[in-house]
Amino acid sequence: MVTAEEFVEKINAGEKIEANNDMSEEYRTALTNLLLQQADSELAGAYGYIPWIEKAPDIHEKVLVAQIVKDEIRHAYAMFNLLAELGMDVESYIKQHDYHFRMPSGQELTSERLTQDKRVNIFYYPIESWTDFILFNFLMDRGAGHQLEDTLESSYAPWMRGLKSIFKEEMMHVVHGDTWFKRLAASPDTKVELQEGLNKWYPRVMNIFGRPNAPGCQTYVKLGLKKRDNHVVRMEYRQEVEEKVLAAGLTMPEWIPYYEQKN
Ligand SMILES: [Fe+2]
Ligand SMILES: [Fe+2]
Repeated sequence: MVTAEEFVEKINAGEKIEANNDMSEEYRTALTNLLLQQADSELAGAYGYIPWIEKAPDIHEKVLVAQIVKDEIRHAYAMFNLLAELGMDVESYIKQHDYHFRMPSGQELTSERLTQDKRVNIFYYPIESWTDFILFNFLMDRGAGHQLEDTLESSYAPWMRGLKSIFKEEMMHVVHGDTWFKRLAASPDTKVELQEGLNKWYPRVMNIFGRPNAPGCQTYVKLGLKKRDNHVVRMEYRQEVEEKVLAAGLTMPEWIPYYEQKN
């Protein structure tokens, strides 16, 4: 068994890791955690979107939402296949979890966990209107895109390869969000609801990035599974959202870092 130090040296030398390579325990644990986070998020995300195939405003949009659902299920499948390659019994894992679970409307979370699966906790919030659905594409798919950017250069080669097409599809979801965001902002009938939705969803998405200088993130960076600190990614994301929000004539919502709030 390779030691943790020897393994980090390999990563630092630019070596890519394959599923059948010897891995340090530290690497296997960190990798499994990140893969599970993405797999569970993709599946829970898809389940949250399914009702919006039926509720989409017109037949063209029903096709687009169905396509997005298919993309997310395929992303989950691709991620679970990577976990199966690492020896996980994927089918029994999926059966143990309730990916439909959503918390009641009107509640807010910071970093709490509500289920045993490893979904990003934005997927605990219910999508209750077409505006919510659009804001999910506009804010959350964009946030996921920023987070996954590092994975395009991951030390784990099978993930890096699999992520290329996933990343392209996530960018298509962002384009869907951007198109509708501009449309809803341009109409006086929908502009107020869009601003209210933005005020609700933006802080929630800002919370998904994790604390600055978190030790867990530093371990991922050391192992080549991430490149940047959580907060660096968050600030890049924030700037991109701000440009779009101001260009659409809306106001940037406030976000108070939960890790600085005093109880
Ligand atoms: Fe996805
Ligand atoms: Fe997506």
